[in-house]
Amino acid sequence: MQGVFITIEGVEGSGKSTQVLRLSERLRHLGLPLVVSKEPGGTALGRELRRLLLERHPSGETWCAEAELLLFYADRAQHLELVIRPALAEGKVVLLDRFEDSTRAYQGASGVAEASLDRLNDLVLRGLKPNLTVMLDMDPEVSLQRVEVRNLSMGAEFAETRFDEAELEFHRRVRNRFLAIAQNHPNRVALIPARDPVDQVEAVIWGRVAPLLRSAGFGVD
Ligand code: TMP
Repeated sequence: MQGVFITIEGVEGSGKSTQVLRLSERLRHLGLPLVVSKEPGGTALGRELRRLLLERHPSGETWCAEAELLLFYADRAQHLELVIRPALAEGKVVLLDRFEDSTRAYQGASGVAEASLDRLNDLVLRGLKPNLTVMLDMDPEVSLQRVEVRNLSMGAEFAETRFDEAELEFHRRVRNRFLAIAQNHPNRVALIPARDPVDQVEAVIWGRVAPLLRSAGFGVD
């Protein structure tokens, strides 16, 4: 049996991690063969890349757009080779917190051309597409406030605690790119409003995941 590939996407603070957790608990409870992972950082070396990509360097140096893009793809290539492709080949359900659409949305919003992303996809993805992408949609004005509250309550040392207007503008562009992806790939992408209560969002997601699993031959009733 060929596995099922599900990705969850959305802007920061859209409740993505909570929903990945809820869905993975449900699938585990049903006894499905499951691999849950995330990008960046789904492998041991990938976690090193995640740190290099997301933590501020003491020197103050930041990645230029092309270097950042290539590091995200290095992480993805390793993840595909070591985790994603083997699990799918074994007939497992693979659930990912972020994948290629995040690159299109975030690096696209940073100015990377679509054609460059297409070329990297040819090299690294080689035609592999998720069976379903759950896209949690929320206005960044609201979602980033959630992130601020969360960071403050955790006493975060490195993470952002305040988003300025330029960052908000960047996240608005990211959201618009996610929305465009959803519009261009209506069969693959389920666009789900994420401002509703967590239980309600979870139920809507399950309404999309369950039929897919059934059609792939998994018993989920
Ligand atoms: P996370 O904390 O939700 O896992 O997100 C990690 C950050 O990395 C988030 O700001 C989105 C960003 N990101 C990209 O910019 N490009 C990518 O391809 C991926 C996977 C994540």
